[in-house]
Amino acid sequence: MTEVFDKDDPRKLETVISFLEMRRPPARPARPVPLRKLAIMRAEKPPVGFYLYLYRSVGAAWNWTDRLMMPAKELEAIIHDDDVEVMVLHVAGVPAGYAELDFRNAGDGQSELGLFGLSPDFIGQRLGGYFLDWAIGALWRPGIERVVVNTNTLDHPRALALYQKAGFEIVGRETSWLVPEDSVERPAES
Ligand SMILES: CC(C)(COP(=O)(O)OP(=O)(O)OC[C@H]1O[C@@H](n2cnc3c(N)ncnc32)[C@H](O)[C@@H]1OP(=O)(O)O)[C@@H](O)C(=O)NCCC(=O)NCCS
Repeated sequence: MTEVFDKDDPRKLETVISFLEMRRPPARPARPVPLRKLAIMRAEKPPVGFYLYLYRSVGAAWNWTDRLMMPAKELEAIIHDDDVEVMVLHVAGVPAGYAELDFRNAGDGQSELGLFGLSPDFIGQRLGGYFLDWAIGALWRPGIERVVVNTNTLDHPRALALYQKAGFEIVGRETSWLVPEDSVERPAES
């Protein structure tokens, strides 16, 4: 996608967010577990520094910057919430990506794949589809009627199609602006 900068704030890049949802568990079976040394473990109340390592290792190439700009206390409140599960995919002992499962709106029947991705060294090895299917399975819990996710046009070009193939449908689109990594101003206390 051609990069377009905000005329009022040239630090910001234009993007279009697609909002997707799934109203029933996928009909197709989950992809088989790849024949690798895999472990998916919850990072329970992870230190903010470790979380930011994950976030940057997955998102740096795709302009994931919102959480770099968030005050540490605010970020900690999210990732230490009992209803937010930071699930780390390890490949042969190495953190390869993560899925953030957000059940904070489970009372309204909704769960959200808050953040999802692999770090660049692990993309294109048939891990993404497997890990997504696993995450979707984990997001469908008793009482959940709707699973949501969003992706924007600056994410990996295969992300949207992968979500749609997994069973998500686009329910909205919105133009937005994000701050690329080289323009990020970090909060004073972090
Ligand atoms: C989106 C992401 C998870 C996909 O991971 P991946 O490693 O490419 O996933 P896979 O190798 O399992 O491939 C996924 C699908 O894309 C298809 N695919 C792989 N390479 C392809 C290519 N070159 N051209 C077209 N399709 C391709 C595969 O066939 C597979 O579908 P299938 O399993 O039904 O056959 C990964 O690119 C990523 O983490 N990106 C960075 C973060 C991001 O954008 N996150 C999502 C938005 S929040």
